[in-house]
Amino acid sequence: VIRTIDARVVAVSQPTPTIRQLELRAVAGDLPTFSAGSHVMLHLGGDRPRRNAYSLACSPWSTSSYRLAVRHLPSGRGGSRWVHRELREGDVLTVEPPRNLFPLTRTARHHTLIAGGIGITPFMSHIHQLARDEASFELHYAVRDESEAIFVDELEALCGERLRVYVDPDGAALLGAMSSDVLPSRPLGTHLAICGPAPLMAALTAAAEALGWPAERIHVERFALDQGEQQPFTAADLTTGRRIDVALGQSLLEALEGAGWEVPYLCRQGICGQCRTRVAGGVPDHRDLYLTPEEKAAGDAIMPCVSRALDSPLVLDLPGSPGGEGHAAH
Ligand code: FES
Repeated sequence: VIRTIDARVVAVSQPTPTIRQLELRAVAGDLPTFSAGSHVMLHLGGDRPRRNAYSLACSPWSTSSYRLAVRHLPSGRGGSRWVHRELREGDVLTVEPPRNLFPLTRTARHHTLIAGGIGITPFMSHIHQLARDEASFELHYAVRDESEAIFVDELEALCGERLRVYVDPDGAALLGAMSSDVLPSRPLGTHLAICGPAPLMAALTAAAEALGWPAERIHVERFALDQGEQQPFTAADLTTGRRIDVALGQSLLEALEGAGWEVPYLCRQGICGQCRTRVAGGVPDHRDLYLTPEEKAAGDAIMPCVSRALDSPLVLDLPGSPGGEGHAAH
């Protein structure tokens, strides 16, 4: 059971038409400290319960309040809409303690940080930490339109010359600068950290790998892959018809494992391709970086470590029979 924190929304602002900024304070005492790159899960209201992950977009030693930025996702299933339309100053939210899936590599010789759009949020704590540590770093921040850039004054103050902002409707300018200039020229021991829309992260990762960057020096913000709003859903085994419920906050892979299936995996981040599973019915909600757009559109394969379902049941062609069933009987 996760101990949660009650936090009051003490300020709400709208820095851009699509982004809402929230400041949260604990109802009692201080908020927990966190490491740079951390996020929190917020429990959101509305007609159905939801938990969404948001980066802590403030300095890691900010324990009197947390700052978050929430982008309105028109394609989402209501969580961001609720934050934008219903949430008010003074409301109290349930917040899960910070977790970090995107830590800084403190031993890096140089940090090249690349943000696309709302992907700037986890870098706010990175930048505060790096500036304080007097580390060697640079930040490349691409936005579709100038009016979508947030935190720019603060970033300029913290980064100075190390900040480069790209007004880049399709990501081509950023990708071009990375492939031709930045990625080929950074010193050995540089670590790359990327957060932004999944296609941009995939393109940047592929560009870095093509230039010989080892995978262990490329870091992508994992929750950005699956931070879309979550709903519980049901999967079903094609052969036996057995149903597997996937809860809020649980991955399909975890639910399958819990039900006794041994699905192969490596990364559990939607990157390696190991957990690929055939879909025989239902509509997958793809959240991985592995399948091609064509494969995603075909809808007959899923990466259960990160992807979910748009309708239930999602019928899966699972390997063999569940091994755990026998044990569960004892
Ligand atoms: S385990 Fe790597 S893509 Fe699922």
